[in-house]
Amino acid sequence: MSGPTDVAACVEEARRAIAAAGSTEELRRVTAEVSGKRSPLAEMSRELGALEPEARRQRGQHLQAARAVVEGLLEERAAALRFEERSRELAASRLDLTEFLPGSPAARAARGHLHLVSQTRDELEDVFVGMGFEVAEGPEIETDWYNFGALNIPPAHPARGMWDTFYLDLGEPETTLLRTHTSPVQIHLMERAVLDGALPIHAVMPGRCYRRDTPDARHLPVFHQVEGLVVDRGITFADLAGTIEVFTAAYFGPDIHARLRPAYFPFTEPSAEFEITCTLCRGTGCRTCSQTGWIELGGCGMVDPAVFAAVGVDAESWTGFAFGFGIDRCAQMRHQIADLRALVENDIRFLRQF
Ligand code: DAH
Repeated sequence: MSGPTDVAACVEEARRAIAAAGSTEELRRVTAEVSGKRSPLAEMSRELGALEPEARRQRGQHLQAARAVVEGLLEERAAALRFEERSRELAASRLDLTEFLPGSPAARAARGHLHLVSQTRDELEDVFVGMGFEVAEGPEIETDWYNFGALNIPPAHPARGMWDTFYLDLGEPETTLLRTHTSPVQIHLMERAVLDGALPIHAVMPGRCYRRDTPDARHLPVFHQVEGLVVDRGITFADLAGTIEVFTAAYFGPDIHARLRPAYFPFTEPSAEFEITCTLCRGTGCRTCSQTGWIELGGCGMVDPAVFAAVGVDAESWTGFAFGFGIDRCAQMRHQIADLRALVENDIRFLRQF
C-alpha cells in the first residue's frame, strides 16, 4: 500500500510532465496521464475503499489536495501554451509593412522628362524672353487667308509651291489647312494689336507645322518652328541682323555665328536666309554642310508693306522685321543629331540622352 510519499512523488512527476509539454496537443496527452481515470492519483483514490475509516479520511484529503495542485498546474500550463501559440500565429500572419517601403532608386519606376524638342522650344523661348520678347501661340488649323493670303501669297501665286500643303476636307476645297509655317501667327498678333491699339509688338511664336514632305535626315512632315515679329517705330534691317546674331551666340555658343544671305519670301522685303556656322565642323566644311561651313536655319526679313496693309497697320508709322526657323533643326545642330527622324521614332535609348 502506498503512503503519502507516493502522493508527493506523483505530484512531482505530474509537475515535470506538465512543464515538459511543449504544445496544447502534448498537454492534452499529459492531462490524461496525470489526472485521467488511469492516472496514478485516480488509481490511489480507487484504493481508498480498502482503508480504515480514519486512514481513508486522511489519505482522501491528501489525495484531493494533490489532485487540486495537479489541476492548477494543468490550467496554468494550458494558459501559457495558448498564449505562446497565439503569439506565434500572430507573428507569422502579421502584415509586413516593410514590403511597401520604397526600394533602391534603380528599382523605382524611372521618371520621364520632356522630349528634346520641348526642351529646345523652352530654351529658345528663354533666350528670346531674355532679349525682351513675349511668347505667343496660334492655331495649327488655319484658313488659306492666314497661312497664305494675308502673308502676300495670293491664290495661284507661284510661291505657294514653297509649301507642300495638307488641306482639310472641310467646306470649300483648299480653304482650310494645317499650317505650313508659324508665320500666320504674325497675322493673328497684328490683327489683335490693331484692334486693341496695342502696337508695338515684340513676340516669338513657337509651334507645330505640317508639310507634305517625305521624311529624310533633315525633314519631317510634322515639325516645329519658332516665328519672331517686331513691329515698332524706326525698326531697321540692322535690328534684325543684330537680333539674329545675339540669339545665335546665346543659344549655340560664342564661336557659332550667323550670316544673312539674300533670299525671297513673299511676306518680307528685303528677305534673307539665315545661316549659322556648321556646328559639326565649326566652319571648316564637312558633309553635313556640303563643305560650305554654314547651315541654313531659317528665313527672315523686313515685314512687307503688303502684309501691314492686309492687317491694317500703318506702314508710314511702323516698320518691322520677322524671322522663322526650325526648332527641330536647332536641336539637331546643337546636339549633332545625324538624322532628324530619331526625334519621332520614340526610341527610349535615344531620347534618354537628352
Ligand atoms: N515661314 C517661312 C518658312 O516656313 C520662314 C520665314 C521666312 C519666316 C521669312 C519669316 C520670314 O518670318 O520673315 O519657310
